[in-house]
Amino acid sequence: MNPLESATPAEQVITIRSYLTPGDERTLADDVLDGLTRPFKELPPKHFYDAVGAELFDRITELPEYYPTRAERSILVAESARIAQATRAAEVVELGAGTAEKTRVLLSALAAAGTLRRYMPVDVTEGMVVRVADELTSAFDGLEVHGIVGDFERHLQHVPPPDDGPRIVAFLGGTIGNFTPGSRRRFLRALARLLRPGIDHLLLGTDLVKDPRILEAAYDDSKGITAAFNRNVLTVLNRELGADFDVDAFEHVAFFDREHEWIEMRLRASRRMSVHIAALGLDVEFAPREELRTEISAKFTPERLADDLAAAGLNLEQVLTDDAGLFALSLSTPAG
Ligand code: SAH
Ligand code: AVI
Repeated sequence: MNPLESATPAEQVITIRSYLTPGDERTLADDVLDGLTRPFKELPPKHFYDAVGAELFDRITELPEYYPTRAERSILVAESARIAQATRAAEVVELGAGTAEKTRVLLSALAAAGTLRRYMPVDVTEGMVVRVADELTSAFDGLEVHGIVGDFERHLQHVPPPDDGPRIVAFLGGTIGNFTPGSRRRFLRALARLLRPGIDHLLLGTDLVKDPRILEAAYDDSKGITAAFNRNVLTVLNRELGADFDVDAFEHVAFFDREHEWIEMRLRASRRMSVHIAALGLDVEFAPREELRTEISAKFTPERLADDLAAAGLNLEQVLTDDAGLFALSLSTPAG
């Protein structure tokens, strides 16, 4: 039985703070203006996740080809009790929490160890934060949830300081791989600032380098769900910025870049196109077969993981992998 189950409903507390103000729509506009006027067009992946994109990502996690979610979950199932012992965490701050499906495994272990008090999901998709707060306060009586609707690249200062007891900052799913190498290290450094040396831990999920055929299948599934997820970013631009992308005229492209060891997703124009983006007063020309980069998803070797953490001032304490060696979860703490 979950030790928090004895708490009365009155002790359940949900706080949700949104830092996405109307002015934040500018970040989409700025990203689009910046990204679509470059010689090699590019959009940042955070704009995938409107309500439809979040739902499509959820379906991706259940695809036979998309192994990362299952692999990371299996590590959490096998190791959460040990993680709970090692960290004694009273609170979990989770960046890009999404549905927090796997996080429940960790929270259950912390609850069973009797240390869990507070969960703080951070996500750009408001509906996700609200839903997760409701679901988790029902699942763990007495759990305090402080949800943050915001951009983890811009709003980390709104994560409250640690309360009573150790903290885990969880960044799961391999989302760290969606940063380019330089900004990845900068971001890890920002995460280290949320942690106290020797007391708090970063729990980081990283997808591992493997056979390119496995990797490419994971990002180009036979049902076309990843293709729909990729194209959905154009629907977001049509709706939010009054653009007139012919979404179906863009082909989904996903390949493993062997030099950089990352998956790259692109959208390829099937013909010459001129796209008008009303909110920006901008016309964007696409040549036939021109590609727009929408995501990188970096894959890690043990060396890359250790080097990135060290560069961010984090001491690597444990690396945990699934039986097939597909995915890694690591625990680290800031160097004193
Ligand atoms: N952690 C979950 C979800 C991963 S999908 C898992 O492991 O399955 C990536 C999540 O990060 C989505 O829920 C998306 O809305 C969120 N996200 C992406 N970019 C973000 C940003 N810049 N700030 C906050 N959340 C972001
Ligand atoms: C959220 N992120 C870690 C996913 C990934 O695997 O890079 C997003 C995704 N893109 C395509 N499929 C899944």
